[in-house]
Amino acid sequence: MIKALRGTYDILPPETTLWQKVEQKTRELFGSYGYGEIRTPIFERTELFTRSIGEATDIVEKEMYTFQDRKGRSCSLRPEATACVVRACLEHKLLNQQGKIHKFFYIGPMFRYDRPQAGRQRQFNQVGVELFGSYSPLADAEVITMMVRFFELLGLKNVSVNINSLGDKESVENYKDELKKFIQPKLGELCPDCNRRFEKNILRLLDCKVPSCKEIFSSPEMPVITNSLSDVSREHYKAVLSALKDVNVNFVEDSGLVRGLDYYTETIFEITHNSIGAQSALGGGGRYNNLVKEIGGSATGAVGFAIGIERLILALKQLDIPEEDQKEIIYLVSFDEAAIRENLVFADELRKKGLTAITGYQKLSVKAQMRQANNIGAKFVVMRGEDERAQESVKVKNMETGEEKITPVQNLADEFI
Ligand code: HAM
Repeated sequence: MIKALRGTYDILPPETTLWQKVEQKTRELFGSYGYGEIRTPIFERTELFTRSIGEATDIVEKEMYTFQDRKGRSCSLRPEATACVVRACLEHKLLNQQGKIHKFFYIGPMFRYDRPQAGRQRQFNQVGVELFGSYSPLADAEVITMMVRFFELLGLKNVSVNINSLGDKESVENYKDELKKFIQPKLGELCPDCNRRFEKNILRLLDCKVPSCKEIFSSPEMPVITNSLSDVSREHYKAVLSALKDVNVNFVEDSGLVRGLDYYTETIFEITHNSIGAQSALGGGGRYNNLVKEIGGSATGAVGFAIGIERLILALKQLDIPEEDQKEIIYLVSFDEAAIRENLVFADELRKKGLTAITGYQKLSVKAQMRQANNIGAKFVVMRGEDERAQESVKVKNMETGEEKITPVQNLADEFI
């Protein structure tokens, strides 16, 4: 038997209903903040990701699905969508008008060759947003608020927002100098990956998951990034926190938060929930003021986030959220061959009125059909034997009350509306 590849999953009904709910709430809420949906291809030139996410990141070094197409071009399945959205904006010249704000949301699959476990897949789905054209701290605060409101709308109330600031280029350079001074004498104790990244991009040392390295980075002497912030960045960060207080969004300042992608500047944040175990990050994001320029556009303030849908669904499944009203199912039982064909027509009429009607395609015993009606949770069963046919009527049985009623065929839909 051919099975799905490791780290990839089929999403089957009835769970698909939860996915649809997440997608519907995305459209509803993000739409109310003025975001429009963007859909970009799931594969791009590899260079787009190496230049934006960064060569020395885990994603680029270890996790990309990269292949050559038939013309020998290096392509990669998208590991995230921010770079793709920036590419699309530049290609369609959307960011040329000074002062204009563009807001996009997306829903779709991403691919990372990571070690699969609960909440971590190789093909996973994100809903995300990207806002372009503003450097204002209020944009950061609004984006974070929107993320929190999204979880609330879905019934997930007690999420934690962790926030930090990397600052601007000047701040990051200051921090890198501090970090170098602290790390240099300890290089012998760090793993080979850390030693390599020390030269290539020292910030990425902080993503290391090796326990002995993590212990060194959590020592009290470890430099803290917010101490290296320039005055401008410090003001920006303060303004974000103060705006979050204004809208009553609770947050925790986390000086150890760095995020694993190179494009971030200034504010970065992550949202976690304790119900989903080790992979507790439901989503994360931040500001990326240099990325548009690095990919070939002009300097543009930008901020965004992405949420992992699988992790969100894991968290939602633990909640006791009452099922939304299911549509009532009408099951049409056939006593004979003629009824199978008639039922096709009756079911068609019922569906035209917005009702949910299920009918069989081959002759089965009435018992088997009633069992099927029960299995799918049908509220009504419609039957038609010789007597009913002679009278141009049908028998309708309410499966919950057991009550039966003879109804003229032409009024059938009215029974259920
Ligand atoms: P990220 O933190 O790499 O950020 O991913 C965002 C979320 O995607 C994670 O918090 C997690 O919920 C989910 N996720 C990531 N990897 C996996 C996986 N292997 N399996 C299941 N879920 C996963 C980004 O992708 C940035 N593009 C976010 C962003 C948008 N920053 C600015 N704009």
